[in-house]
Parts: sequence; structure tokens; C-alpha cells
Amino acid sequence: MTVRAPAKVNLQLSVGPVRDDGYHDLVNVFHAVSLFDEVTATPADALSVTVDGPATVPTGPDNLAARAAALLAEHLGRRPDVALHIRKDIPVAGGMAGGSADAAAALLACDVLWEARLDRETLLELAARLGSDVPFALLGGTAVGLGRGERLTAVEVTGEFHWVFGYADGGLSTPAVYAECDRLRAAGEQDSVWPQVSDDLMAALKTGDAEALGRALHNDLQPAALSLRPSLRDALRAGRAAGALGALVSGSGPTCAFLAASLAHSAELAAALNESGRFAAVRPASGPVPGVTLL
Ligand code: C5P
Repeated sequence: MTVRAPAKVNLQLSVGPVRDDGYHDLVNVFHAVSLFDEVTATPADALSVTVDGPATVPTGPDNLAARAAALLAEHLGRRPDVALHIRKDIPVAGGMAGGSADAAAALLACDVLWEARLDRETLLELAARLGSDVPFALLGGTAVGLGRGERLTAVEVTGEFHWVFGYADGGLSTPAVYAECDRLRAAGEQDSVWPQVSDDLMAALKTGDAEALGRALHNDLQPAALSLRPSLRDALRAGRAAGALGALVSGSGPTCAFLAASLAHSAELAAALNESGRFAAVRPASGPVPGVTLL
């Protein structure tokens, strides 16, 4: 069984105060884009993970896809006797939810392989136990996530948006970026207000207006990501100078997301960003795309 899962970019990531459980209440507008990881599940004697991609991906029980297979097996009362092979295209620790995509793909692949065929609600519940971004990787499209980001409502979108993603050398740790956001707020360097869904963003998505979308993009984690990785400031500037309609850090970073006006414009923008030399890799992509899909 091979399942493909998309990366995400956050069109709005508004971070509320830290909760008693250590998580932050969010308004998180997820948007699935056409950069994909693939997970293949094959019957085996025991649970194992192999990775076709960077050496930084863990292959032990900590791998999120392995945890997904183990959790599903436990739910079904069976042994997790599966070999998972992950083909990575989504940047690792890049703020595009690559690990969450792998977990969602492993859930679906094992669900089909083990002929469990769980209903969508149950899969979404298991996904939320694996991580805040895993339910969205199942769902795909564009969605508002409340709570930790796991309580999802689909958003109406007209047409397609064209993006360019600038990958960085090396990742950023999500907990470290949230902790830096808390530190900046405690030091009075960043405001903390109760997050609200942006009406301008919803209107831009509904009408398919890329210029309005570019103006409405917002990420509360961006100051923290820039504080931990100051070179991202120039990386974002390079995209704006090259004519991007919007430029922001994707999620907790360090990947930078640039919105283009059209498919042709995304190719031009990608060429200019490649030329700038500020990125380890530059990848055009479009969204929204569906969530996990059985190939
Ligand atoms: O849910 P997940 O394991 O993906 O979260 C990774 C980390 O990101 C958490 O340990 C926490 O530090 C931070 N986080 C948060 N608030 C959220 C989501 C994630 O503080 N809503």
C-alpha cells in the first residue's frame, strides 16, 4: 500500500496564550500544497522504518509514521507487523508538517493493509493523538484549525494559488520556536491577543484573489523564527524584491513561502529566488490539494 500526503503552509497562524498542558490555543489556517511524501506499508514480521531522504529523519520508534502504525495496531488489538518505507520530499523540521504528513500517510496505509477501514472520525481522533498537525494532513484542502490546531473546519476556496517555497539548510525545532515566541511576549517585544479568524483572509480565499491573499498572510511564529534564524529576514526580502505577492515563514520555519500571481509568475519567482543564492532549494507548488491519497 502506498499513500501520498501533502505538505502544508499556514496562511494564518495566530498564537494565543500558553495553556496548562503546555500547548497554545491557535487560529491556524492550513493550506495543503503540492509537495508530497510517500509512505509504503508492506507486511513484515515486526515494525520497521526505512527512509529515502535526509539522514536526519529518525528510523526508530520515535519516527512519527512508526508511532502512527503502533497506535493504530493498539487500537485494533493487533501486532504492528509492518515495514514502512518513507520517500521524503517535504523538508525535514521545515515548518511544512512533513513528519505529520508521514504519520497521516502511515495511518491510512496500515488502515487499508490491515483491512480495518476505520471511519473518518476515528482516524481523525487517532491522528490528533499523534500531533496537532496530523488531522489536517488526512483532510487536506484548506481548513481552519482551532484548539491545538486539531479541531478542523474546511474553508471554501475558489481556484488555485501558486507558491514558491525556499528551503533552508537545517531545520528549526517547533517547541523551541514556540518557546521563543513566549519569551518575546514575556519580554514585551510581541503582543499576545486572543486569536480570531481573519475576515480578509477568508474573503480572499472565497473569491480566489491572490493579491488580497498576499496582503492577508500572517504568522505569529515569524518573529520567533527570525529571532532564532536572523538570515530568514534577508530570505523574505529577496522574495518581496522578486515580486512575490506575499512572503512569510511557513509555520515554525525555517522554510519561506512566497505567493505568486499565476503559474507563469511562480516559475519566474522560482528562477529569481534560485538566483539569489539564499536557499538550499527552491520549489514551486500549488494549493489547495487533497489530503492523504492511496496511490
Ligand atoms: O502537537 P505536536 O507534537 O506537533 O507539537 C509539537 C510542539 O509544538 C509541542 O510540543 C509544543 O511545544 C508546540 N505546540 C504548541 N501549541 C500548539 C501546537 C504545538 O505549543 N497548538
